[in-house]
Amino acid sequence: MSIAKPRQKTGQKLAVIEGGRIEAARESESRYQILFDQASDAIITVASEGRIEEANQACEELTSFLKNELVGQNISVLSPDPKIHRIPERSRPLSKELFKTAGTYEDIVIVGKDGYIHMVEVSVRVIKKADGDFALALFRDVTEKKRMERELITKHAELREAYFQLEKKNAELHAMQDTLVQAGKMAALGELAAGIAHELNQPLQGIRGYAQELQTLVTNPSSEVDSSMKEIISNVDKMHSIIDYLRTFTRKSVEKHEMTDVHTAIDEALKMLSRQFASRGIKVDKSYGKDVPNIYANPLQLEQVFINLATNARDAIETTGRGGGNIRIRTRSSGQFIEVLFQDDGVGMSERTKAKAFNPFFTTKEVGKGMGLGLSLSYGVISKIQGSIVVESELGKGAAFLVRLPKDFREIG
Ligand SMILES: Nc1ncnc2c1ncn2[C@@H]1O[C@H](COP(=O)(O)OP(=O)(O)O)[C@@H](O)[C@H]1O
Ligand SMILES: [Mg+2]
Repeated sequence: MSIAKPRQKTGQKLAVIEGGRIEAARESESRYQILFDQASDAIITVASEGRIEEANQACEELTSFLKNELVGQNISVLSPDPKIHRIPERSRPLSKELFKTAGTYEDIVIVGKDGYIHMVEVSVRVIKKADGDFALALFRDVTEKKRMERELITKHAELREAYFQLEKKNAELHAMQDTLVQAGKMAALGELAAGIAHELNQPLQGIRGYAQELQTLVTNPSSEVDSSMKEIISNVDKMHSIIDYLRTFTRKSVEKHEMTDVHTAIDEALKMLSRQFASRGIKVDKSYGKDVPNIYANPLQLEQVFINLATNARDAIETTGRGGGNIRIRTRSSGQFIEVLFQDDGVGMSERTKAKAFNPFFTTKEVGKGMGLGLSLSYGVISKIQGSIVVESELGKGAAFLVRLPKDFREIG
């Protein structure tokens, strides 16, 4: 076993130890020498001018220099040259200044005889001696630890990314589920509407028939009777048209699709409400995309959708009590679809209202004012031609409905 030459100073010290204890002292020193040499961390002692005085076995493994190649050399043999060696980020090359102050230095880079770069942690103790200070330095190789740290960071980033992807997929799945639930409700509503329409139509036609018959039977009716008869017939006709309208939303209705100008449908809807808007101080700001083509749809049903959106906007603005407001309508072409953005600065919706707005019969309006069917029927019309309608809204911040309609639903898979 090779034991480094004992330091001179230690030798002098030994000389003063008296007679019989010398042997014991030698024994103890050689034991320390073995400990020093066999330590698993690389240890060196460095004189004040940076000269390596001692190095242990582990130094050879770390630096691939032999001990006797290190002893007597300046510490700079282990300092990498940033011009030649690649110094990893957030680390610095070993320098002799390090050995002047006690402390633990992390992320120090040394270079071995074989040119390999090692990342080390250096612990320095400065030992004061009458004949000059020296430093005892312990090197711990952290190259592998650092590599694993970096790998961990990469893996962590990958995991985060995967997590975000998962969240996204989850949200998509939820949206899809919502759509399915909504579609289910619409189908149920369709059945119900078709049933009611059918059941009511028969008796209504009966009432109309009897009323007409009465008109012919009563000769010389008073003007009151005459106007009441007319009132009955016109009310029956009104009910009939409502039933007809409900029927258009059921699967049993006959669809009449044609190439339709969405802008005309919007304009027609707005025309119907123009007087109400004017009296309520509601301004409409339209901006129609020039590249928006005609789409394959039922013009009357589209008009109905926009009437529903416009009425809701009217009500929402009126509820603010400000005595006025704005509706903005934007259209544009987007791939196989056209988009209509219907925005108002009305009261907006709470989260709860937003979640239920498209449900059949859901309304926040007082009895007689809202049936809670506008949005669900609109949803039905739009879904039937493979379009979509979504809302963005916050309480007090207005609402924006985005309607996406395929240019031709027959071409959508
Ligand atoms: N533009 C809007 N601003 C605020 N809330 C709205 C708007 N449009 C719809 N809502 C909310 O959605 C509910 C359902 O609308 P809808 O289906 O048209 O039924 P109704 O208008 O008969 O209440 C409304 O009662 C209202 O609470
Ligand atoms: Mg409505």
